[in-house]
Order: sequence, then C-alpha cells, then structure tokens
Amino acid sequence: MARRPEPVRDLDWSPERARELGGTLVELWGELLERLPRQPVNRDFRLDEVRDAVALGVPEQPMEPELLVEHLRALGLEQAVYVGHPGFLAYICGAGTVPGAAAGLVAGALNQNVGGWRLSPGASEIERALTGWLAARFGLPAGAGGLMVSGGAMANFVGLKLARDAAAGAGVRERGMRAAPPLAVYASAESHIVVRRAADMLGLGAEAVRLIQVDERFRMRADHLAAAIEDDLEAGVTPAAVVATAGTTQTGSIDPLPDVAELCSRHGAWMHVDACYGGPAVLADDLRPLFEGIEEADSIAVDPHKWMYTDVPGSCLLVPRLDVLPASFAGDAGYIWLAEESRQGIDTGQLGPEFSRGFSALKVWMSLLAHGRAAYARRISHDAELARYLGALVEEHPDFELTAPIGLSVCCFRYAPSELEGDGEALDRLNERIMTAIHADGRAYCSNAILNDRFSLRACVVNFRTEAEDVETLLGVAAEHGARLLEQAAKRTA
Ligand SMILES: Cc1ncc(COP(=O)(O)O)c(C=O)c1O
Repeated sequence: MARRPEPVRDLDWSPERARELGGTLVELWGELLERLPRQPVNRDFRLDEVRDAVALGVPEQPMEPELLVEHLRALGLEQAVYVGHPGFLAYICGAGTVPGAAAGLVAGALNQNVGGWRLSPGASEIERALTGWLAARFGLPAGAGGLMVSGGAMANFVGLKLARDAAAGAGVRERGMRAAPPLAVYASAESHIVVRRAADMLGLGAEAVRLIQVDERFRMRADHLAAAIEDDLEAGVTPAAVVATAGTTQTGSIDPLPDVAELCSRHGAWMHVDACYGGPAVLADDLRPLFEGIEEADSIAVDPHKWMYTDVPGSCLLVPRLDVLPASFAGDAGYIWLAEESRQGIDTGQLGPEFSRGFSALKVWMSLLAHGRAAYARRISHDAELARYLGALVEEHPDFELTAPIGLSVCCFRYAPSELEGDGEALDRLNERIMTAIHADGRAYCSNAILNDRFSLRACVVNFRTEAEDVETLLGVAAEHGARLLEQAAKRTA
C-alpha cells in the first residue's frame, strides 16, 4: 500500500510570519531613506573586508530572524554604494523610486511568470499597456509596443536581432549566418560597447559594426555614415542596420535622427535607436524636440532603470509593429500546449530571448501611476537644467573647463589650472587622481569620460534627489582635491 508522505512545511511561511518580516524590513527601508542624504555616498571599500562581512556561509538550520534582519541592515548601512544619494552623479544610474521598490515586493510576492499570458494575465496586460504607452511617447504608430528586458545591453541585442533577421532573409534563424550575405551595422564612435557585443552575439562579429566618426558635438556624422554605406555596397556588403544613439553615454549627444532615417529608408536598412539613456527625455516638453525623427525608427531601446529612475533591472525594446518580434523569436514547444478556446493575450515569452520572464514592468508602471507623467516631465527637465547649471559653474571657475557641450543631463569637465596649461598628459593624470579621491571622499560621486583621447570628469544627473547644492558640492570637492593633488605633485617635482 502506498505510504502517504507527511507534509514538509519548512519553507511555507504563515501570513503572520510574512507580515512580521515584511514589517521589520519596511522599517529598515524607512531608516535607509532617512539616512540616505546624510550617509557618505561611497566609502573606500576593501574587498576582503566586504567579503568577510557579507559572505556568511549558508547555515544548516534557519538563521534567527533578528540575525537575518541584522545581516540586511549591515548590508544596507555599511556595504552599499548609494546610487540614490543626492550626490551620486556617476555613470547613468537611476536613483530608484520609492513606489518602484515597493512594487518589487508585490512582484516578488505574486511571482508572475510573464512569459505566458495564462500564467500572468494582469501582469502581461500591464507590460503591454506600459510598452504601448511608451511607444506612443516616441511617436510610434497605434498598435506599437514591445517588451521588457533586463537592461540596455539586452534591448539593443533584441533590436539588432530583428535587424539581422530582416536583412539576412528567410532561413537565417535555422541555418545561421552561413545562409546570409555579409552584413554591416553602423553606429557612431560614441556608441555604447553593447552594440559591438550584440553583433558578436549575433554571429556578425564585432567588426561588422562600422564606427562612424562624430562631429565636434559628439554626434554621428551623416556624411561619413553615407560614405561608409556606399563603401560597403560597393564591396558587396549589405547595410543591415544603423544604430543611432539618442543620448550617448559619455556626453548625452543625440545623433542626427532625420538624416539616419533618410539613409535607412534609402538603403532599406533597419533604423535602430539606442535611446537607453536619453529616451525618457521625450516625456519632458522642453527636451522632446531633440528627438525629432525617432518616430521613424524600426526599433528603440530605452531603459527605465536609467532616466525613469526605477531600480535595476528594467529596460524596454519598442517596435512600431509587434509582429516583427515573434517573427524573430517565436518557436513551437509542445509542452506549452493550450486549447484554442483558452488562448488569449500575448505570450511575451515568444517575443524575445527570454522564456520565463519576471514582472519588471510593475515597478515602472507603479512609478508612473504614483507620480504621473507631469512629475516625470518636470524632474527630467530639472535634471537637464542642473547639468547646465553645473556647466555654467565650471565655466565661471578659473581652474575648470568644459570638455564637451552639455548634452541632456550630462556635464563633462576637468580641472585645468593655469600651471598645467597645454600639458595634456599631466592634466589626464591629475584628473584621474581627482576622480579616485572623490570616490574615497564620500561627499560626491562622479565618473569619467574619455573625450578626444583625454580624461574628463563626468556628472550625469538622473537622480530626483539631486539639487543645485549637490552639483556645487561636486565641483567644490573636485576643486579641493585638485588643489591638494596639484600641490603634492609640485612638491614631488621640486
Ligand atoms: C547609450 C547606452 N546604451 C546602452 C547601455 C547599456 O545599458 P545597460 O547597462 O542597462 O545594459 C548604456 C549604459 O549606460 C548606455 O548609456
């Protein structure tokens, strides 16, 4: 006779226990938010010390709840860099919205698999509504939409997969690139490395990406693009896609979208726009005109986890016609059979590279609902204003200079005291040291750009907590370290 297994309930928490843990963690969250502006944005972390502090080892038996919470508290208060700190102005990291973080708890609790509509009816429809709404903000036609992916690297990869399949023709999905003519992709010299990585992953090879020279404002030169396409055509290479960057990583420049659209249409090439950083600026009335021409795109990558401020991961790939996605990704799988009469909605797991998919749309959706578009418009516009303000402070300061025009919400600058005038190498070394010192300092945090082969400091405001005093602090801290390091260097050479 079959022996009936006894229940094993170790992992099945009661609602009371869930409330208790959740309540304590919400308290911790509140504490982190309270302390955020007062904490140093970063400290001089040491790998061994961090490792020792957090890599506890997995216990055989349950950890006491107080110890568990203490562990998370120490992680939050001692072992984290505060991307949401008002002084964090490095790279392109959204500050992380409060409603978005709360949505993370709900998304985790519901654990919807947004790969299949049947497993996630409400979640799938929220993702559809979100991507449709975003697509419309870019001026894509009715019926446009897309899908959430983990990050900009993935969004660009999906866009370029669509482009490759369109250019390579029937059979490429089955037979691979040996079924295809040689293909080229064009992107500016300022495009993000993930474009080349995508070409590599798609079997085109990174060298298939022709890096087109930029103008003095770091925008792709349309005349060079046209010439590169002509060269390839002459050599029997098919121009598969042009990647226009709308908000370059280093300087926030926007490639000439109407020119790119015209060249793509003339040569039958796919127009993909990497708007991972800049895209959300279409929500701001004053910045929207900069994106004219983006409505012609065949695909657009945009990252809510950058300038829509939600926490990582959460990016988006948008297309004017949804049917291109299943054409590039769908496949038959007998084990997800469903009776004809039960099928409804879109199975997003057939639209992209991922099969099981999380509910990353919820944090973006909830942030938009909780704040409304107008608040986003005001804040995005304010971020750009703060970057321009920093630019003006740099220009007023005798020891600093701008190294690029202000693009969107990015300001690139460097410490350039008169003592080192004309000595590019010395200025590079000094500014490298200044950035390292800023990182250890904790009052402000910036990153760098390499522009015209020279090292710049770079601040990018995609942080709704940043205000004028924070960009003033950054410049003040940079000046302080600059003067100190310059003096040190002078003493060494004396
Ligand atoms: C223009 C651009 N594209 C793509 C990416 C890559 O995005 P992610 O880091 O989300 O993969 C970035 C990252 O900064 C970016 O600035």
